[in-house]
Amino acid sequence: PLKLGVLASGSGSNFEAIMTAIERSELRAKVNVLICNNSGAQVIERAIQWGVPTALLNHREFESRTALDEAIVKTLIEHDVDWVIMAGWMRRVTLHLINAFTGRLLNIHPSLLPSFPGLHAVQQALDAGVAIAGCTVHHVELEIDSGPIIMQAAVPVIANDTEKSLQSRIQVQEHCIYPVAIALAAHRYAQKQQ
Ligand code: GAR
Repeated sequence: PLKLGVLASGSGSNFEAIMTAIERSELRAKVNVLICNNSGAQVIERAIQWGVPTALLNHREFESRTALDEAIVKTLIEHDVDWVIMAGWMRRVTLHLINAFTGRLLNIHPSLLPSFPGLHAVQQALDAGVAIAGCTVHHVELEIDSGPIIMQAAVPVIANDTEKSLQSRIQVQEHCIYPVAIALAAHRYAQKQQ
């Protein structure tokens, strides 16, 4: 099984989808640790309910992005993590984290990248008037929401969509593709190592 570490800042619905896929044997993996930067985040309660060890690393207590990422890498290594899964992780990452997990650091973003990187991607798509929105799982590089794409799902925009209504349909697709994309990326990685 893959040894995962999940980084999440918020509600954790993608974390939940990954745990459910593992429970159903759709993804051969174990989540060794959940790292969160917000003490009030719902994802922490979800992790406790699943029996997943949690680590709270509050970015406000670190003097730089690199210092935070050093603590993250240390925690990941302590928990014997091979793959790092950013699931609603709302902090910019540094080379310290990227280089520690080369090729094994994934992110999910609620747009069809390379369109609409950054914050408020769903609102950006609505403002642009696109007919098709969606989500992307990709390898993480230094530039925000960039890096090779692993999997995408398209979500049609419908009449009277709001940020909330479109976001919730996008999230349904995120929960479908993230576990599959993790397996696909790991499969490709293993093939490359041979
Ligand atoms: C997800 O929709 C994810 O795509 C987005 O945050 C949400 C987290 O939801 N990520 C980003 O915007 C990253 N730039 P969740 O906490 O319920 O999984």
